Amino acid sequence: MKDTRDKLGRTLRDLRISVMDQCNFRCSYCMPAEVFGSDYAFLKKDELLSQEEILRMVEAASALGVNKIRITGGEPLLRKEVVSIVKGIADLKTIEDIALTTNGWLLPKFAAPLQEAGLNRINLSLDSLDEDTFRLMNGRKKSVKGVMRGLDAALKANLPVKVNMVVEKGINEDDILPMTTYFRDRGITLRFIEYMDAGNFHQWKENKVVSAKKIIDTINQVYPLEPVDPNYVGEVAKRYRYLDGQGEIGIISSISQPFCSDCHRARLSADGKIYKCLFASGGIDFKQRLREGISHEELVEDLAKLWRARDDRYSELRSRGNPNDPGDPKVEMSYIGG
Ligand code: GTP
Ligand code: 5AD
Ligand code: SF4
Ligand code: SF4
Repeated sequence: MKDTRDKLGRTLRDLRISVMDQCNFRCSYCMPAEVFGSDYAFLKKDELLSQEEILRMVEAASALGVNKIRITGGEPLLRKEVVSIVKGIADLKTIEDIALTTNGWLLPKFAAPLQEAGLNRINLSLDSLDEDTFRLMNGRKKSVKGVMRGLDAALKANLPVKVNMVVEKGINEDDILPMTTYFRDRGITLRFIEYMDAGNFHQWKENKVVSAKKIIDTINQVYPLEPVDPNYVGEVAKRYRYLDGQGEIGIISSISQPFCSDCHRARLSADGKIYKCLFASGGIDFKQRLREGISHEELVEDLAKLWRARDDRYSELRSRGNPNDPGDPKVEMSYIGG
C-alpha cells in the first residue's frame, strides 16, 4: 500500500460521501429556509456522480487505506439510488464500516433495505424531544414523532443507531437533560455536537455555542460520568460512560477542543469534488477525470497526491485565534455532509 501520510503525518482512513445536496429539512444551523428556498441552485441530476463513479472513488480510496465510509447528504435518503450505492460499496468487500448519517424521516421506508444491502449502522440527527423546539429548529415543522418512527424502523432492522444533537445556546440547551434521560433509558448513545461555524449563511456566533465542558457538567450532576478511551484513533466524538453502567454519551467539541491532529477524513461531494477539510473553501474535481476515462491507477495516484499535500486543520487554527482561515466562502454543510 502507498504511503499516504499528509503533511501533518495523518493517514487517510475515512471517506465521507455526500450523495445528495438537497434535504427535506431546513435546520437553522445548516440550511436556513430564507437562503435555501425554491430559487437556490441545487445540483442538477447530471452534475451528480453516478453510482459507478462513486464506486470507482471508493475503490481508489480503499487502495490508499480507507476502510470506513459514511454516506451523507444533505439528506442521503433523497438519493434514488442510495440502497444500491450501499450495496455496491458492501460488495467491494474492502470496507469494514459502512455508516449513514440521516435526519431519519425516510427511514421507515429505507431501514430494512439498507440493512440488507450491507449498511452497518446509522447516526440519526435529533435536536429536541420538545415538539415546538424541534419544529422550529428543523425549519419545516417536522414532528419528533416522525423521526422516532425512523429510529424505531432502524432498530427493528437491526441497525445500531447513535443520535446526534446539535446544541445551540438559548434554543435547545434546556433539552440536554431530557434528551439524555430518554436515550439513556432506551440504551442509545446520544452525542452532543457543539454548534459549529460551518457554511456561510447561518448566524453563527461564538456566544451561541454551549461548550463540551458545560454539557458534561450538566449531565454529570444528574448522571455521574467518566471518560472512556476512543474506539479508534481519530474518533470524532469523545466518549463518556455512566458510572452506573447504563451506557455512554459522546461529545463533538470542534469549537472548544478541536481534533484536527487526528483527522483521517476526506470528503467527496455529490458532484465529485474531494474536500480535505470540512471548512475548506474549495474541492478538487474528480468528476471530469472520471468522465474522461481515467484509469484506476491514475485515480489512486491523483488521490494520493492531493492527500500528501494536505495541511488543513481549520478548527485548530480558529481556536488559536488565527485569522488566517482557508478563505471565504466556506463549503456548505448541506453540500458536503458534515
Ligand atoms: P462515527 O463514525 O459514528 O463516530 O460518526 P461521526 O461523528 O464521524 O459522523 P457524523 O456524521 O455523525 O457527524 C457528527 C458531527 O461531527 C457532525 O456535526 C459533523 O459535522 C462533525 N464532524 C465529523 N467529522 C468532522 C471533522 O472532521 N471535523 C469537524 N470539525 N467536525 C466533524
Ligand atoms: N454545527 C454542528 N453540527 C452541524 N450539523 C449540521 N450543521 C451543523 C453545525 N453548524 C450536524 C447535523 C448532523 C451532522 C451531519 O452535522 O445535525 O447531525
Ligand atoms: Fe438537512 Fe441534516 Fe442539514 Fe438538517 S442538518 S438541514 S437534516 S442536512
Ligand atoms: Fe479535519 Fe478540518 Fe475537521 Fe480539523 S476542521 S478535524 S482538519 S475536517
